[in-house]
Formats: sequence, structure tokens, C-alpha cells
Amino acid sequence: MKIIMLGAPGAGKGTQAKMIAEKYSVPHISTGDIFRANIKNGTELGMEAKKYMDQGLLVPDELTVKILLDRVAKDDCKNGYVLDGFPRTIPQAEVLDKALTELGDKIDYAVNVEVPDENIINRMGGRRACLACGATYHIAHIPPKTEGICDVCGKELVLRDDDKPETVKNRLNVYHEQTQPLIDFYSAKGVLQSVDGTVDMKDVFASIVAILG
Ligand code: AP5
Ligand code: MG
Repeated sequence: MKIIMLGAPGAGKGTQAKMIAEKYSVPHISTGDIFRANIKNGTELGMEAKKYMDQGLLVPDELTVKILLDRVAKDDCKNGYVLDGFPRTIPQAEVLDKALTELGDKIDYAVNVEVPDENIINRMGGRRACLACGATYHIAHIPPKTEGICDVCGKELVLRDDDKPETVKNRLNVYHEQTQPLIDFYSAKGVLQSVDGTVDMKDVFASIVAILG
């Protein structure tokens, strides 16, 4: 099963993608997590990506597409995957589509998690992320057992650099301009499914499971 998560920054793509990955035994692939891991390790790719991410801009397609295509070519992707944060532009979607078509394959579901902009800024300020293992929390909705410490790996939780209110506004603008057109793109392919992302995360997940089966 090959799934794409669509939705604004902070809509809950990562939260839901982790649950989907667990239930359906497919890898969760987040381009944002891959970039953040590279930033943390000080790689050349990480340093390049950081220039864009800190401003709330998209990392250029040339960099992003290569990373994603290399990742989905790995053995653990044979039975499918859930993509979180990719594609984010029409050219990215076209490259993915072409690569899949060449393999006689296709995306099965594009799940659009709908959350209005008003809700987003509030969510982002409360998010805490573990840069070591990728787990995310929310100080009010999904707090860790010990404040500031990751339940999964015990490392320190941080406010992502791009979760500051000004940057979140830029990310929302970029989303509306460059990523939202993907809703029509996948709708035209007949694979788009939308869910209400404003309800409790367990209820969002239940709607997704009702779609995926
Ligand atoms: P990325 O890491 O993908 O960030 P994003 O799309 O901005 O999305 P987020 O991770 O911020 O939000 P999310 O939808 O995953 O929400 P989450 O589940 O955490 O990308 C970061 C940057 O990398 C981009 O800006 C760009 O620069 C670059 N990049 C990445 N991919 C790229 C690409 N393909 N092309 C170009 N550049 C790329 O939830 C948010 C918060 O809300 C959490 O605190 C969570 O606990 C809480 N929450 C979740 N669900 C609920 C709920 N139902 N109710 C209440 N709270 C909830
Ligand atoms: Mg995410």
C-alpha cells in the first residue's frame, strides 16, 4: 500500500503517518525528518536544507527528489510506504508519478488532513520534537511522561526552529501557493481522500482506517 499524506504544516501528517506505518507495517518516510537528521549530523545536505527550512521556504526540488527516490528504492519499501511531506510541489509529484509508472506501480491513496489556518499556529507553538528519534508531542494535547524528555529514547525535546510564529506564517503561505495544488492533482487521479484533522488524533486515525481498510 502506497500512501501520501497531504495537509498544511501542523495538520498532523506526521502524527497520523506514524500510526498508519505501525498498523499497516510500512515505513514512514518524512522528508522533513530526513532533513532534520542531516542538520543534526552537520552534513552538507543538512547545511543546504537548513537555509531554506529556517525561513519556512521549501528546499529546492532537485535536492528533495533525489533523496526521496533513493529512499523509496530501498528494500523495506517493497510492500509500500507512507510519505509524509513529499510531494510538496507539482514537479515533485510528477517525478514520483513517472518513477512509479516506470515500475508499473502507482499511489493508492492521497490522504488530505484538513485543518484551517487558525488552528495551525496554536498547535505549532505547543509542539515539542525529539531530534534524535523523530517523535513529536504537544505540551497540552500529547505531553511526554516527563516534561522536556522523549518517552521513546530519553533525549531532550525541543521547539523546532521553524515553529516560531513568523516562520509558521511563511510556511502556511508557501503551503497555499505550492502544495495545495496537489489536492487537485491527486483528485484528478481518483486517489484523493479528505479527513477532518481538527478532531482528536484518535478520531482522525479512525477516519483514515475507514478509508484504508
Ligand atoms: P516537515 O517536517 O514536513 O514540516 P511540515 O509540513 O511543515 O509539517 P509539520 O511536520 O510541521 O506538521 P505535521 O503535519 O507533520 O504535524 P504534526 O503531526 O507534527 O517539513 C519541514 C521543512 O522541511 C519544510 O518547511 C521545508 O523547508 C522542508 N521540506 C520537507 N519536505 C520537503 C519537500 N518535499 N520539498 C521541499 N521542502 C521540503 O502535528 C503538529 C502538532 O499538532 C504536534 O504538536 C502534534 O502533537 C499536534 N497534533 C497532531 N494532531 C492533532 C490533533 N488531531 N489534535 C490536536 N493536536 C494535534
Ligand atoms: Mg511532520
